[in-house]
Amino acid sequence: MNIKRIAVLTTGGDAPGMNAAVRAVVRYGIHKNLEVMGVFRGWWGLINQELKVFDRRCVSGIINQGGTVLKTARCPEFLTEEGQGRAYDTIKKYAIDGLVAIGGDGSFRAAHSFGNKYNVACVGIPASIDNDINGIDVTIGSDTAINTALSAIDNIRDTATSMERIFVVEVMGRGSGYIALQVALAGGCENVIIPERKCDLEAICHDIVNGNLRGKISWIIVVAEGVAKADDIAAEITKTTGLETRSVILGHIQRGGRPTAFSRTLALTLGQAAVDCLIEGGRDKAVGFSQGKLVEVDLKEAI
Ligand code: F6P
Repeated sequence: MNIKRIAVLTTGGDAPGMNAAVRAVVRYGIHKNLEVMGVFRGWWGLINQELKVFDRRCVSGIINQGGTVLKTARCPEFLTEEGQGRAYDTIKKYAIDGLVAIGGDGSFRAAHSFGNKYNVACVGIPASIDNDINGIDVTIGSDTAINTALSAIDNIRDTATSMERIFVVEVMGRGSGYIALQVALAGGCENVIIPERKCDLEAICHDIVNGNLRGKISWIIVVAEGVAKADDIAAEITKTTGLETRSVILGHIQRGGRPTAFSRTLALTLGQAAVDCLIEGGRDKAVGFSQGKLVEVDLKEAI
């Protein structure tokens, strides 16, 4: 089938670089003689017919902005039959031949279920700070989030060293320990607690006490939100070691900010790849890099 019109949306948690991906889809789509519609607020916009035709200028000046100009939302209604039915009405009404969904794991699950049920060609672009898409090396936004969290940890290091304190820093990532591991390595942190590996807090406390006896003055322990709360870990360390321990939750600051060069260029490449995938008849796919090569992965494998 020759496709004429595609739509693009961003869904789930925003990630820095989503705008660069939207820009790439719109401009490359137009370059390939497609009409491109932008859908606002993710699946919600598809259900409620909040969409418009985008021209090249609609995506001017956004490549360097965090967040998403299309807005995004978590949309439980899209998990219902009624919600998906209404979204399909929009697809028919606007004669949309293919949909590009920019988002993370939850977005891909929704695209997979909707696309198969209503026979709509859906292609996913992985964009999430969590980097939790199967079969794809790295998601748009995770590099930026890591650098944001790292900069915060570097700041914490200054005060931890000066005041001779132990800090437990909680980072985002949902069920994934990717951000935690990367910032712990890059920040020279003493310990990292991630969902992928069993944590031995007793051993950590033992190391802290021994280190303290040798004159070691400060510690930074990074904890992924998917495994424990920083407050609980800090309280346990204080109780076991008798040493003052502070907790910091980095939270949503990790989701914002200007995308790094890596997040932007990844977004540009994947935006183009998603449009090519739809033109070539691809459906139910995610585009991304795997071991450095540009690939298309079945959505059911990716989620
Ligand atoms: O999926 C991105 C993410 O930032 C996760 O790391 C985090 O657990 C979640 O979204 C927070 O979601 P919300 O902003 O809806 O509270």
